[in-house]
Amino acid sequence: MSDYAKGLEGVIANESALSKVEGLEGRLSYLGYGIDALVENCSFEEVTHLLHRGKLPNAAELSSFEDELRGDRKIPEGVIEFLKGAPKDANPMDVLRTAVSMLGLYDPRAKVGEPDQEANRHVALSLVAQTPVIVAYFHRARQGLDLPPVRGDLSEAAHFLYLMTGEEPSAAAVKTLDIAYTIHADHGMNASTFSARVTIATLSDFYSAMTSAIGTLKGPLHGGANEGVIKMLKKIGELDRVDAFVEDCLANKKKIMGIGHRVYKVLDPRAPHLQKMAIKLTEELGESKWISMSERIATLMREKKGLNANVDFYSATVYYSLGIPTDLFTPIFAIARMAGWTAQVLEQLEDSRLYRPLTKYVGPATLSPVPPIGER
Ligand SMILES: CC(C)(COP(=O)(O)OP(=O)(O)OC[C@H]1O[C@@H](n2cnc3c(N)ncnc32)[C@H](O)[C@@H]1OP(=O)(O)O)[C@@H](O)C(=O)NCCC(=O)NCCS
Repeated sequence: MSDYAKGLEGVIANESALSKVEGLEGRLSYLGYGIDALVENCSFEEVTHLLHRGKLPNAAELSSFEDELRGDRKIPEGVIEFLKGAPKDANPMDVLRTAVSMLGLYDPRAKVGEPDQEANRHVALSLVAQTPVIVAYFHRARQGLDLPPVRGDLSEAAHFLYLMTGEEPSAAAVKTLDIAYTIHADHGMNASTFSARVTIATLSDFYSAMTSAIGTLKGPLHGGANEGVIKMLKKIGELDRVDAFVEDCLANKKKIMGIGHRVYKVLDPRAPHLQKMAIKLTEELGESKWISMSERIATLMREKKGLNANVDFYSATVYYSLGIPTDLFTPIFAIARMAGWTAQVLEQLEDSRLYRPLTKYVGPATLSPVPPIGER
């Protein structure tokens, strides 16, 4: 085989039953359930159960799954000390990456070598439970605030909002974040999932795989795009400046964050859910100019380049409207995607093969003698 696919575009590297991304139709489903129906009918916890256990839970299964998740929220004291001592101006994605890596130091279940899937299933759940606590605690620590003990009476979305603000969140905010989590939970062989699978396929441990994934998600061409969107909207400032901004980006081949997708050639099916929430939230806040600017950018990019909005385009406005600081947008993506990353890594271990693609070598065609250092 010598086919060359830059960026592995179009290359199928594994089998997965977890999420189906239909790029030409603009459809996304998890284990045979469409994303729209899941958003309509299920909580993020139910979706996580679906991804981790392969089925939607009944009431009893959901209750014991939630108990396990909520019972796993406490993070080790050593990690708390790190969060308190980390530079206050550190990028929260860097802090999350390091803290998740540290979790592995405290977890004797984190084994390298022959995979113990039963132990891994528990590790996977701990990671889903502890990632939001890390993000919220760092956010509080960097403001010099106390770190309230974790609680067992709140859903994942409610608990994160509670820890972040120290206040009981509104039902509307919880619902909004819960939907955002569901929409972001899994997405085929995206770059960060690929990183996680590559790492675990060497039979490294779960925490190493998640550390790889977080580092990959951080980039502005992947999860980091949601932060880029709000920065872009603030830079443009007013609706009547959008056209000139887009013209300038296109003329100078600058990427517009939140637009375009490697797989979706039509509208990203996750975008309309976030768009709907963004319209409602910005109207409530009396700040509808952000959504008007977004809509104008999306229209221009569709007309001029045939490119559509992706998941990050409207999630940025949703998080902004919830009062979440910009640099926590990508960590929130990581919180949600932890459900998918861990499920994908569990699945990888069921039938694993080392990932080892080839390089098309374009260096010198012939060997040269190595000259002594004084003659180079
Ligand atoms: C997601 C993304 C990396 C996909 O990249 P890709 O499949 O490698 O596509 P390319 O970067 O090769 O783009 C193909 C063409 O569309 C253009 N394009 C793609 N996304 C663009 C964007 N966001 N703004 C402006 N032009 C864009 C490219 O300039 C290129 O144009 P050309 O053929 O005239 O040179 C890319 O669309 C992007 O950078 N988007 C912005 C970041 C983002 O929102 N990421 C989150 C993804 S969920």
